[in-house]
Amino acid sequence: MSIFYNKSAQSFRLRAKDTDYIIKVAPCGYLAHVYFGKALPDEDLSYLLRLDENPFTPETNNRDRAVYLDTLPLEFSCFGIGDYREPALKIRTSEGNSTCDMRYKSHVIYSGKPVLSGLPATFSTEESKCDTLEITLYDDVTDVETVLVYTAFEKLNAFARSVRITNKGGKPVTIERIYSACFEFDTNRFDMITLYGSWARERHIERHRLHHGKQEIDSMRGESSHQYNPFNALCSHNADEDNGEVYGFNFVYSGNFRASAEVNQHDKTRFVMGINDMDFSWKLESGQTFTAPEVTAVYSREGIGGMSRTFHDLYRNNLIRGEYRSKRSPVLINNWEATYFNFDTQKLLSIARTASSLGIEMLVMDDGWFGHRDSDNSSLGDWFVYESKISGGLEYLVKSVNSLGMKFGLWIEPEMVSPDSELYRSHPDWTIHIKNRELTMCREQYVLDYSRKEVRDFIYGMIRNILDSANIEYIKWDMNRQLTEVGSSSLPSERQKELWHRYVLGVYELLERLTSDYPHILIESCSGGGARFDAGMLYYSPQIWCSDDTDAFERLKIQYGTSLCYPCCATGSHVSDCPNHTTGRITPFSSRADVALAGAFGYELDITAISENDRKQIPMQIQKYKKYSELVRKGDLYRMGDVFSDCKQVAFMFVAKDKSEALVEYFQILCRPNTRSVMLKLKGLEENAFYYDERNPDFVLSGSALMNCGINIKNLYSDFQSETIHLIRK
Ligand code: GLA
Repeated sequence: MSIFYNKSAQSFRLRAKDTDYIIKVAPCGYLAHVYFGKALPDEDLSYLLRLDENPFTPETNNRDRAVYLDTLPLEFSCFGIGDYREPALKIRTSEGNSTCDMRYKSHVIYSGKPVLSGLPATFSTEESKCDTLEITLYDDVTDVETVLVYTAFEKLNAFARSVRITNKGGKPVTIERIYSACFEFDTNRFDMITLYGSWARERHIERHRLHHGKQEIDSMRGESSHQYNPFNALCSHNADEDNGEVYGFNFVYSGNFRASAEVNQHDKTRFVMGINDMDFSWKLESGQTFTAPEVTAVYSREGIGGMSRTFHDLYRNNLIRGEYRSKRSPVLINNWEATYFNFDTQKLLSIARTASSLGIEMLVMDDGWFGHRDSDNSSLGDWFVYESKISGGLEYLVKSVNSLGMKFGLWIEPEMVSPDSELYRSHPDWTIHIKNRELTMCREQYVLDYSRKEVRDFIYGMIRNILDSANIEYIKWDMNRQLTEVGSSSLPSERQKELWHRYVLGVYELLERLTSDYPHILIESCSGGGARFDAGMLYYSPQIWCSDDTDAFERLKIQYGTSLCYPCCATGSHVSDCPNHTTGRITPFSSRADVALAGAFGYELDITAISENDRKQIPMQIQKYKKYSELVRKGDLYRMGDVFSDCKQVAFMFVAKDKSEALVEYFQILCRPNTRSVMLKLKGLEENAFYYDERNPDFVLSGSALMNCGINIKNLYSDFQSETIHLIRK
């Protein structure tokens, strides 16, 4: 058991590997935060609360009670009772008041972790166990109960938090804000790291010093978004890849979110994360419960790299499900950049024939195979085969692909409908819309109202028909527009603000049905490239399309940023043609493959039309991917070089957990004339062991020398070059 209750101090110590998280029931029953950091000896740390009087600070029961809510570090702060920092909870009563006051009532500690009803969440496994503490708080006036759920992972410096709210009173109440977690720090000496971006430029890293006031990122787009990923880190000013303290937070959710760090008047920091409360509310009838999604929190004393490795282990061991959790995905070829909408059965089969002869294992038919879709202006929602394009039907195509020894995969975008579709013509009210208001179009499509069961059932019926009609072993689940005019014709007026969240719950419900009815199908999720690369989707899809930008050297930035929180094995990464369709850049075919190697590897080009020279390299590239995929999927990632500021070089290193081998991937972005060779200091090896370079078994150096002095990478001629080095322990 990794959770301990100290009865006399009324405190809880959650121990996750070598990290402690300490909570205490403070005077008057407020749940206070004591400590989050390196594991400490077991002693009473209540003095850290500093329960002194503060001038001009509201306090309960005037000065008799030693609690000053605006300064007390709180585990879950409520609106309206004198804590003027960001509250985690705001509830409106049927009388119209918004104050609530949650005090400790009881707690329970147990091993394992509860399922979060209808939501993705981490779980306990045999190899990576966890324990859970549930603390119940209660507000006597509103009769609302709050259960704070904390999980500590035994072998990882990681915790998970979520919240359940139950209306125990007789009258309905409305939740106007419910964040999933509130973290307090007795310092403001932090930098904040975020992942910002845009279409084709997802998850670039930004870092800035915290200042007084609130600093936040959010999404109001209905998805986690290209613009800000639901990830934040707070780190000491001197933290870098390998040193320093870092706290990482990630929201296991795929819709609107908000994450805010606030430095207050006393130079302390509060960090909150949860569903964005903009245009959100949730009506709770008497007896009803609302469950807020989970936040994962990681602590590292080994810099940003240490934080990433913990997140990777947490998600690989305790979040990703299904058979592809423990096996590599097939090498695929996707026809999108090869053909866009301009394909038919014969074209696909010609791609498949060449691909199979070179060792590619799966053909993925992307957008354009259904309804009468020849461009992005029709047919979403008509999930039946476009017979004149796919002549012979899906069954014939899939059988032909299978007979080449390849698997077959399919693109779908089940959350959308085109105005030009049978579905829209028969059910125009099934879209998310507001009556009498012109509906904004984006990519010529509308969003279906997934809060409605009949809509989900209908779409799922069509998907089932397709999946049952042929041997489909992979699905690319896309989502290509953000939400606007958010209204539902099936919800009463007082529940309209629930739609954003109900939409996400509907998506999760359908994904859950799909994964349990078709457990062997590999799902790769996608959203205009990487607009929904989040831990919520990872629970259903072991891999996620990282970006529509397939330029290898743009990808280095995108994959680097993505790897701050998400494991490389989950990052869909394809070798595409040049000049690159997004940037016009020309890069060597071999470097493109080396970039894709650090992810879920595949091709996205017209394999029948590329040069013979490039084509010839494919079997060797696939062999390389197969050889290293275990290391990439299960090893520890170390990053070197700063791809964002210096633009000269970057390296990824994957080290086996037992340190018996390592793969170094070095990328020279721009060639610098008249420079000496690079001495790249490696990381993560065993100091006292000896390693040899597989290409040159006589080259043997200690882990110590390789890490403290470096490995010599000879000058690479020209821009965008790459080199891979396989080190094996002697
Ligand atoms: C999105 C995806 C692409 C492709 C197109 C098809 O943009 O990110 O990979 O599937 O949709 O329309």
